[in-house]
Amino acid sequence: MYRTHTCGELRLSDVNKEVSLAGWVQTVRKFGSISFVDLRDRYGITQLLFSESLNADLDANPLGREFVLQVKGTVNERSSKNANIPTGEVEIAVTEFKILNKSAVPPFTIQDDTDGGDDIRMKYRFLDLRRNAVKKNLELRYLVNRSARNYLHEHHFMDIETPFLIKSTPEGARDFVVPSRMNPGQFYALPQSPQTFKQLLMVSGYDRYYQIVKCFRDEDLRADRQPEFTQIDCEMAFVGQEDIINMFEGLVKQIFKDVKDIDYTETVDRMTWEDAMWTYGNDKPDTRFDMKITNFVFAKHLFPERKTILDPEMFSIPPLGGGGASVLAIAVPGCSEYSRKQTDELTEWVKRPQIGMKGLVFIKVNADGTYKSSVDKFYTEDKLKAIAEAAHAKAGDLILILAGAEERTRKAISDLRMYMAERLGLRNPGEFKLLWVIDFPLFEYDEEGNRWVARHHPFTSPKPDHIEIMINNNPVIEDAAKYLEHPYASIKANAYDLIINGNEIGGGSIRIYQRELQEKMFAALGMDAEEQQHKFGFLLGAFEYGAPPHGGLAFGFDRLCAILGGSESIRDFIAFPKNNSGRDVMLDAPSTIDDKQFEELQIKLDLKG
Ligand code: AMO
Repeated sequence: MYRTHTCGELRLSDVNKEVSLAGWVQTVRKFGSISFVDLRDRYGITQLLFSESLNADLDANPLGREFVLQVKGTVNERSSKNANIPTGEVEIAVTEFKILNKSAVPPFTIQDDTDGGDDIRMKYRFLDLRRNAVKKNLELRYLVNRSARNYLHEHHFMDIETPFLIKSTPEGARDFVVPSRMNPGQFYALPQSPQTFKQLLMVSGYDRYYQIVKCFRDEDLRADRQPEFTQIDCEMAFVGQEDIINMFEGLVKQIFKDVKDIDYTETVDRMTWEDAMWTYGNDKPDTRFDMKITNFVFAKHLFPERKTILDPEMFSIPPLGGGGASVLAIAVPGCSEYSRKQTDELTEWVKRPQIGMKGLVFIKVNADGTYKSSVDKFYTEDKLKAIAEAAHAKAGDLILILAGAEERTRKAISDLRMYMAERLGLRNPGEFKLLWVIDFPLFEYDEEGNRWVARHHPFTSPKPDHIEIMINNNPVIEDAAKYLEHPYASIKANAYDLIINGNEIGGGSIRIYQRELQEKMFAALGMDAEEQQHKFGFLLGAFEYGAPPHGGLAFGFDRLCAILGGSESIRDFIAFPKNNSGRDVMLDAPSTIDDKQFEELQIKLDLKG
């Protein structure tokens, strides 16, 4: 037996016990003829005391950082206690020790505040994983996993595995492909999600399915995107949107309770996609803080039901786009005293290519009720007052106004809102705000192809009273400039996303389950009958054999963990993540393969460019 206890276990109540411990050497401190060693394992750190009698042995077998050590000894009360660690009141008076394995000097220190940069820690990820900070994240991930499984099990969901070597499932990204040796010249695609399989399982009668499953998407990477990531993927039969929302709101609340001991008792807010775009410029708004957008002037076709707040004429001066532009604003609380340098900084910020604005107009609402603005020479005090009132600005606020083409400006004002919130510390990481965004458009316009693409995926059903619009209208877009006036632009989907603190944590929909409607949907996306049969014949066929009404959703498991762990980056919550270029720097993958493998696959490499 290597050990009787772990390094996180022993307390004052264990004093005088004879114990064995095994773990890694964290530090060695020599004081004259005695030495202290901190021994670490997954559970904690225990101090070891090597007294004079072991000195000769220790000199003959010096201990280095990360050596694997086994000791026997007696638990003693420490004279100088360490209140920072649970084992800090005791130490082990070592009587015997054995070096189980040596370690090379690690390339960075295995501590919370390590001296290792990102690249080196990724290359030696197995060492990075020894660090408490990373271990904590993986522990949290495990707790989320367990909590989800318990909840789903209690609600009669069955975990069913689905294959990885499949035919493309469109989720809006590129596929990773795998060549087939037995079928030369043919390729499998790795699933972007198990979408079609879970629908087939509903047809098979497994009316509550789940899987905590890897998904693969070849897309541009960001802090919240990995090429392989994990979903908590779920599907239910005989349900409508309300059933799904209730079931999975329950799941998330259970996870909050189990993992963070948070009772999220209030009902999760719901917001239509249109309201989200109108109020926050964004379909995943962070609702922890207010700072809503004021839509002075906007492209009416996106919001046919909304009223223009101020006369567009009012903004027809050069700094605000010279007419025809959308003019959108936020009132930033408590920033009316921003200096010239600070407002210049904000102007530079919105001019960066990622934001793409030509400039920024600001109005300071001074404490005494007067105004100071960047457009003083164009605007009278009365006009500034009218604008400030329309923006519901209070004394002390700084009104920031952007103008330009509708979509770009809306995105820019949304980004500016988040940026200002970040600057002002309004995004409290300890607060969690959940939100369902519902009633998404069914289609999205693809400018490049001048065609419709599915906003969620092609299996999402239109709202029942919008099915007619789809059936009775031709999908062809005659005039690209007026795509928003096409009837298809108004079709809403039975789709919903769960947003936490401005992050899309999950999404799903009620599905199409009738062959005719599914064919109509594929046709709307530009697939002729032959292509439909080639790509989705299996699903269309299955819908002829008693497909029940069904729907579901998938949570981004890594994202959920990151949010609960208070981080923006999902990488910290994945044991072996890829870097931003999609590389595993530890394995050095992707890499070339042997000539023999090419031969077996009957593939000849001929790289273009
Ligand atoms: P969707 O594509 O919205 O839906 O994905 C569901 C959730 O998965 C997470 N996610 C990602 N996480 C990390 N890296 C990525 N590259 C990545 N892409 C997506 C997000 C997202 O909300 N089959 C449908 C679900 C359904 O309709 O039931 C689907 O995959 O948190």
